[in-house]
Formats: sequence, structure tokens, C-alpha cells
Amino acid sequence: MKQIIITIDGPAASGKEKISKYISNKWKLKHLDSGILYRRLALIFLKDKINLKNKNQIKKKLNEIENLSFRKSKVIRNQEISKVASEIAVYSFVRIFINKLQFKFVKKNKNILGFVIDGRDIGSVVFKKADLKLYIEVNPEIRAKRRYKQLIDSGEKSIYQKILKDIKLRDIKDKTRKESPLVIPKGAHVINNNGSFLNTVKQIKSFITNIL
Ligand code: DC
Repeated sequence: MKQIIITIDGPAASGKEKISKYISNKWKLKHLDSGILYRRLALIFLKDKINLKNKNQIKKKLNEIENLSFRKSKVIRNQEISKVASEIAVYSFVRIFINKLQFKFVKKNKNILGFVIDGRDIGSVVFKKADLKLYIEVNPEIRAKRRYKQLIDSGEKSIYQKILKDIKLRDIKDKTRKESPLVIPKGAHVINNNGSFLNTVKQIKSFITNIL
């Protein structure tokens, strides 16, 4: 049986994870967060003190890595890792390495009905022939407000203006990088996630039932 692939792309803090998890639970599809692979690689590079400007050093390290785990972990969720992840994401050879791991994972897990994969280039580069492509859009101010609330609720100190500035900077970085910039993938449905989650779910439900 053909495996179903749903791609979810969108800028930082646009709710890709929440939407992916919802789809994963409701339609019994496996959720893969491609950002985790960039973060895991960033963790390795940090631990091994790899010079991020030295492409040869990075390439040599990549040759030593056989696999990276999609497993979620708090260790890879800090600012330092986010920064390194975004720095290494500009290299085409790093992206090719990570894309290969994603193909390998999907291919290896033939028993899984289908996948919902989120990231920045999943529908535009990695799985161009996906059964369904969604692109999530949310105003930067609303994203910053949600991220701020998340941090405060989890007991961390936070400044709204700083979060907003970071989000806008990350958008510019993601959208203007030469390699696989964040774009609305060809054939993607643009989902407006500015409102309630219920409203977002209403927008995506029919797209999914149409492909199942
Ligand atoms: O979504 P995230 O914040 O966990 O992603 C971490 C970094 O990896 C971020 O800088 C964007 C980058 N990334 C990417 O370039 N392409 C992807 N498909 C996923 C993440």
C-alpha cells in the first residue's frame, strides 16, 4: 500500500507542531519534525567544538554520522542550539545530508500508514510529490504573543519585544537564504492560523479526508 505523505511548512512559531500532532493523532499518521534533525546535528557540532565557518570540518564530521534521531528532547530546545541549527541550515551539503535521513526513515518504515512531516522545505524540496501540502501562515505579532505566553507559562523569563524581534529576524533568514528558502510550496494550501485552533482545524479537515 502506498504511504501517505502530508507536508506542513511555515515560519518559526507558526503552530506547525501543534497542527502536525493533531493530524498525527486523529488520522494515525507518524509525525516527523525535520527541525529536530537540524537541532541534533547542532548539538553534535557544539559538543565537538566544530568550527561552523569551516565547511571541510563540517563535512568530515557528517561522514562520521550514520543516523540522527527524530526523538524530541528538551536538551535541543535552547537558544544556543536554535542559533547553531539556523547557521548550519544554510549549507546545501548539510541539507542534503538531512534530507537523505528523512527519505531513509520513510523508506525503512514501510509498515507505517503515512507521515505528517513539518519543517521549512518539506513540500518545496524534500517531498515535492507529497499527497497533501499545507503552508501555515500567522502574523509575526500573534506568533510572538503565543511564544511569549508559552515561555511565561513554563516558568521562564521572557520579553515580548525581544521575541518579536527574533521571530522577524528568523523569518528574514529563512526566507532569504540561498539554499531551500522558506516558500509556499507549489500546490500547497495556505492555512491561516491567526485565529483559534478550531478555526485552523476546520480549514484542514476536508483536505485530509479527500486524500485518505
Ligand atoms: O523548526 P525548528 O526551530 O526546530 O528548526 C530548527 C532550525 O532548522 C531552524 O533554524 C530552521 C531549520 N530548519 C530548516 O532549515 N529546514 C527544515 N526543514 C527544518 C528546520
